Parts: sequence; structure tokens; C-alpha cells
Amino acid sequence: MGPVRRICCIGAGYVGGPTCSVIAQMCPEITVTVVDINEERIQAWNSEQLPIFEPGLQEVVEAQRGVNLFFSTDIDQAVREADIIFISVNTPTKTFGLGKGRAADLKYIEACARRIAQVATGYKIVVEKSTVPVRAAESIQRIFSANTKSNLSFQVLSNPEFLAEGTAISDLKNPDRVLIGGDETPEGQRAIETLSSIYMRWVPQTRIITTNTWSSELSKLAANAFLAQRISSINSISALCEVTGADVEEVAHAIGTDQRIGNRFLKASVGFGGSCFQKDVLNLVYLCEALNLPEVARYWQQVIEINEYQRRRFAPRIVSCLFNTVTDKKIALLGFAFKKDTGDTRESSSIYISKYLMDEGAHLHIYDPKVKKEQIVQDLSHSTASAEEPERGLSLVSIASDPYEACDNAHAIVICTEWDIFKELDYERIYQAMLKPAFIFDGRRILDSLHGRLQQLGFQVETIGKRISQRIPFAASTIAQLNLQAPPLKK
Ligand code: UDX
Ligand code: UDX
Repeated sequence: MGPVRRICCIGAGYVGGPTCSVIAQMCPEITVTVVDINEERIQAWNSEQLPIFEPGLQEVVEAQRGVNLFFSTDIDQAVREADIIFISVNTPTKTFGLGKGRAADLKYIEACARRIAQVATGYKIVVEKSTVPVRAAESIQRIFSANTKSNLSFQVLSNPEFLAEGTAISDLKNPDRVLIGGDETPEGQRAIETLSSIYMRWVPQTRIITTNTWSSELSKLAANAFLAQRISSINSISALCEVTGADVEEVAHAIGTDQRIGNRFLKASVGFGGSCFQKDVLNLVYLCEALNLPEVARYWQQVIEINEYQRRRFAPRIVSCLFNTVTDKKIALLGFAFKKDTGDTRESSSIYISKYLMDEGAHLHIYDPKVKKEQIVQDLSHSTASAEEPERGLSLVSIASDPYEACDNAHAIVICTEWDIFKELDYERIYQAMLKPAFIFDGRRILDSLHGRLQQLGFQVETIGKRISQRIPFAASTIAQLNLQAPPLKK
């Protein structure tokens, strides 16, 4: 194969879009075409209003679009012309059939493989970017082999993406590592070299790790499982802190200074969200079960269970502090995205907390700087309150255009996402406009440095992993006494 001239990426989502934009910027002589079956999404990529918010993304797209970066719905043409084809479509958790609720649904990957086999000719390197169960590359390979024509040859590589939303552009430009897995044959090794040569334009060679295909696929699942596990570990300690008088931030600092543990990903929260952690850990659990490793499956399942526990103990705590009822009370919910600096709400803990409070009859006034109103309404349209009385369900939700409007006349503020602007609000103004006693539930530990001042103003402050206010006690036993049920895992 000569030098790579054209790259095609199937799937213009949170992974495919930013990844290809950065490749286009770093490789000006390569034409990069991102294709998607979703016409609206492609139109958005070609407009001023990109379909996703990601710091720094707009600048990269604006610089490359129409130069060597193109967004199109003509999948066949892009596939035909490409030397390298990235598959970056979604692999959602199956909602029916075998492995329901846990296994990854590979139907989109399979559809892509069939399409490539149908329309491509010549030699292609097909790169699995989507996170997949181990040995998915084998399925792609078999589809190709079974459908191959005399004029088509290919190599399948695994090149999982480790970018995190909110920091995607810097993660892509300066990755901890790039992982490429391929066949241990000479052809496989040559394909690995070709893909490595793309990344080597901007990533030091020492950070490019090459492995066999299965190690690469499994490393992606394992990396996400380890990250999720750290959050569940610190969240489990946060529950202990709340009943012992310890402060989880102090504990995290104390343990994180041990270099063997490290200080990152030790932030207690209302639980992790996002499209990857839950899906990938469940996928790992399913894989272990399918491979007859029940002990390993149970070990990782517990990471998910602690996350659910963390979510379900936060919402009842709000009810308990608000004198055991939130019915018809106005609650300002600040932050709806699953983390700051993104407009993505997939698996956001805010959804679970909102649904719980809606089921208790609270009026939610939601503010998020980047999440669109339609998205919030869609995410909350399946609450139990909505299911029983659809009109009442949605009448419980208002979307505020700024945080002050959300907090006006509210009984309580619930912070669900760690947006920086929430640290800089005029809390004196907010306090004056709220009903008293005024509560703040800091689900992200972002107001730690303000706790003293907030209490001086008159706020009752409640947070994760630390007991602050003594006035209204809460404890695991209080929650147990209330006999509150967990919200369902997924609607
Ligand atoms: C997804 C997966 O969730 C993740 O596990 C994987 O690592 C990469 O792909 P993301 O980019 O966040 O991540 O997904 P999403 O934003 O849903 O984008 C996927 C895109 O693929 C969508 O725009 C969808 O329209 C498109 N798609 C899906 C196709 O173009 N063809 C298909 O057959 C299916
Ligand atoms: C994750 C992985 O980090 C990334 O490598 C992979 O490619 C995709 O999945 P992402 O889900 O985009 O990325 O964001 P991440 O920063 O990992 O946060 C996931 C969730 O964990 C968020 O809800 C975040 O708020 C939460 N989190 C993170 C914590 O609660 N505490 C922490 O210390 C870190």
C-alpha cells in the first residue's frame, strides 16, 4: 500500500467527529471524510451549529472543513475512495433478547462491515474505533471473508479511542497513548505500521502501543472498567464518611498522594454517567459470564451496583432534608449534562435524580449551560410520573434560561454537574430570592471552599461524603427508615 491519501470514518458522533477533525488538522495532505446515516447530524456538522459541544472543536472544524475535512451522507463513495476506514458507530447495550441489559449490540458494526464488503474494492484497512466486546474484530473479519470478492482485500485493526468528553480535543492532540491491535501476521503488522504512521505525525512513537487484536479490544473495556471502579470505590467511602464524620475529599487527598494510587479520578459524586462506563462494565460482566467466569463477573457487577446505590441515596436525602416531602415544592436543579464542558446527557445521574424527585411531586426548574431544552424534555419524558399522567409529568419540569431564574422562590438547589460557573454565582442574591430555610445539595463537591460563607448567609448545606449541617440529621438509617425504593436502572 502506498501513502495513505484518504480516510473515511463511519459514524459522526462524539467519537468519530472530534477524532477525524484532529486527524485532518494533523495530516493536511490526507482527505478525511466523516459519513453518517443521520442526515440531520451531517447537516449540523456542515453548519455553524455543530451537533456536539466540545471545547476547541469548533475552531478545528472551521479550519479544516472544506479543505481536507468533509462531512457527508454518501457512505458508499467515501468507503470506495478510502485507504483506511474507521468504524465509529454506536454499540448500545442490548435492550432485548440474549444478553439484554448487558451485552453490547453490534448490529450497527455488522451493518457497516456488510456495507464495506459490498461496495469496496482494492485493499482497505478497516479500523474498529467503537468500543466492542473482545473478539468483535473476528466477526468483522468473518463477514468480510464470507462476502469477499476477488478484487477486495483488507486488514482489520482495533484502535480504541480513549478521549473523554469535555477534553476530547486536548486528549486527541496529546494522548497518554494510542493503542493499535492487529493480526500477528506480516500483513497485520504492515497494517499496524500504516495506521501508526498517521498518529506518528503528532504522537511520540513511545506512546504508540501495538498489541494483538484481542488485547487491544480488551484493554479498552478494562480501562473503562478500572476508571469506573475508582469512582465507585471513592463513592463507597463517601457513604462511610457521611456517617462517621470523615470528609471524603480529605480521604481522597490522603490516599491519592500515594503515588501507587494517584490522585486522579477520586472525586466523589452523585455517580458516574456518560455513554461508556456503565455500558462497558456491563459488557465486561456479560463477557465474563458468557466465558464461565462468574466470580470475575460478580466483581465488576459490583462497580455498577455501587453507582446505582450512590444515585439512589442522594435523591431521598433531598426529600428527607426537606421535611420528608417535596410535593409541589420548587427545586432548582443546576446541571443536567453527565459532566461539565459537554452538552451530552447520556446516562447522566441528573436524569435519575430528576425522575426520583418528579415521582415525589417536586417542580423541577432545570438549568444547564449547554444542554438543549428538547433534550431534557426527552430524557425526562419517561419518568413514572409521566407514564401515569403524561401531562402532569411534563408540567413538573421547567427549563430556566439562567441559574438565578431557576433558583428564584425555590426551596432547594441541587447541583448535579460540576460546571465552573456554579462556583461563581452570587449566592447572596440567590439566598434572598429563595424560600427559607434554603437548602443547597452539592452533588459534586464544587462548593467546598464556600461552605462557611453559604452557611453564614443562612443556607443549609448538604454534600456528598461530608456531614456539614447538624440541624437536620440524615444517615443511612434515616433513609432505610423511609423505606425508599431505588429508581429503576433504566427506562
Ligand atoms: C460510540 C459508542 O458509544 C462508543 O462505544 C464507541 O467507542 C464509539 O461510538 P459516540 O461517538 O459517542 O460513541 O456515539 P454517537 O454519538 O451515538 O455516534 C454514533 C454515530 O454513528 C451516530 O451519529 C449514528 O447516526 C451513526 N451510525 C450508526 C451510522 O452512521 N451508521 C450506522 O449503521 C449506525
Ligand atoms: C470515559 C473515559 O474517561 C474515556 O477514556 C473513554 O474513552 C470514554 O469514557 P467520559 O465518559 O467522556 O470518558 O468522561 P469521564 O471524564 O471519564 O467521566 C465519566 C463520568 O464519571 C462523569 O459522569 C464524571 O462526572 C464522573 N467522574 C469522573 C466522577 O464522578 N468522579 C471522578 O473522579 C471522575
